[in-house]
Amino acid sequence: MRLFKLVSLIVLVALVLSACAAPTAAPAPAAKAEPTKAPAAAAPAATGGDLKVAVLAPLSGAVPTFGVMTRDGALLAIEEWNAKGGVNGKKIVPIVEDSQCTPDPAVNAANKVIDQDKVKFIVGEVCSKASIPISEIANAKKVIQISPTSTNTDVTVMKDGKVKDYIFRACFIDPFQGKVGAKFATENLKAKTAFLLLDQANDYVKGLSEEFEKAFTASGGKIVGKETYTAKDTDFSAILAKVAAAKPDVIYLPDYYNIVNLAAKQAKEKGITAPFLGGDGWDSADLDLKAAAGGYFTNHYSPDSTAPEAVAFMKAFKDKYKGATPDALAALAYDATNLLLNSIKTAGSDDTDKVKAAMEGISMPGVSGKITFDKQHNPIKAATILKVTPDKVVFDSVVNP
Ligand code: PHE
Repeated sequence: MRLFKLVSLIVLVALVLSACAAPTAAPAPAAKAEPTKAPAAAAPAATGGDLKVAVLAPLSGAVPTFGVMTRDGALLAIEEWNAKGGVNGKKIVPIVEDSQCTPDPAVNAANKVIDQDKVKFIVGEVCSKASIPISEIANAKKVIQISPTSTNTDVTVMKDGKVKDYIFRACFIDPFQGKVGAKFATENLKAKTAFLLLDQANDYVKGLSEEFEKAFTASGGKIVGKETYTAKDTDFSAILAKVAAAKPDVIYLPDYYNIVNLAAKQAKEKGITAPFLGGDGWDSADLDLKAAAGGYFTNHYSPDSTAPEAVAFMKAFKDKYKGATPDALAALAYDATNLLLNSIKTAGSDDTDKVKAAMEGISMPGVSGKITFDKQHNPIKAATILKVTPDKVVFDSVVNP
């Protein structure tokens, strides 16, 4: 009887430990409890060789917090799988490359991991403008790519509308994100007019701005101005003078945090009080909170989430990374890596045709919500709205698709 209780307890602990990465379709088996001498929690050693997974992320360049968080989220997931014996008996070996959120370095990194390291699986990139060129290479070479965070529609779909067979993502897409932003502007901020600021050379910024404009005007709002800048600009005074003259109710700036920091700070210095509104690209520990205070942005996840998967992830991340708080990039990189490894496990093989088929049918409770793919390899997920205050970013609301 005592032995039975002990075994039950061990099985329970093993189940809890394995639960966070387990998909509902194909739960990861708990470590087998050996009633006699072997300690039940010990993982079977991976003896079937290595399985390489490339992580392509911007570790240097304009948005390094994106890269660090993405790498750390992906490595946490890999570490957890390896602690449970790897996948299909193989030890998972991460290969991390700095793809800089920029097309050329991203292409070089993709070619390097595919041609030299012979990887068949890529987690990354963060930025749509880097993920799109990577996807062309990966898809042509039957390499599976799952971007944790690239939200532009062109990541998974070709210009002619055909789905890229081997390309997936773990996040919602910008037509949804733009709609959520516009709905929040009209309904919550009671905005009737908006001013758009955008970098036309950035696929993400351009695409999201267009989606916001469509949705905002469809619900009766008016765009009272639209000005462009480039990623190299540091002085926004000329375009901010136009914003001041147009007196919009909101300023939509769906760019990354480095640009938001500059533009929002200069707007405050000019006495512009209309709130800035943006997208997931604002999510960074380096967002200038004083400058962006009063603003809101749409995102994938909030560290305040109380979902069990999110709580377990938060704890594991803080334990591994000396108390660092994971942002949406870390959460989605963790989800993307688990989606990939669960699909490889379900396929029982690292043949990318089999893995792709398994991924198309997956249903997994992720940190950022439950994930299943639509026909275009996009998850349908809720968006979170976050509010910027002078000393922290706080949860505002959730918007369902
Ligand atoms: N969605 C952005 C893009 O496609 C990347 C991003 C996602 C940045 C989440 C920050 C947080 O380029």
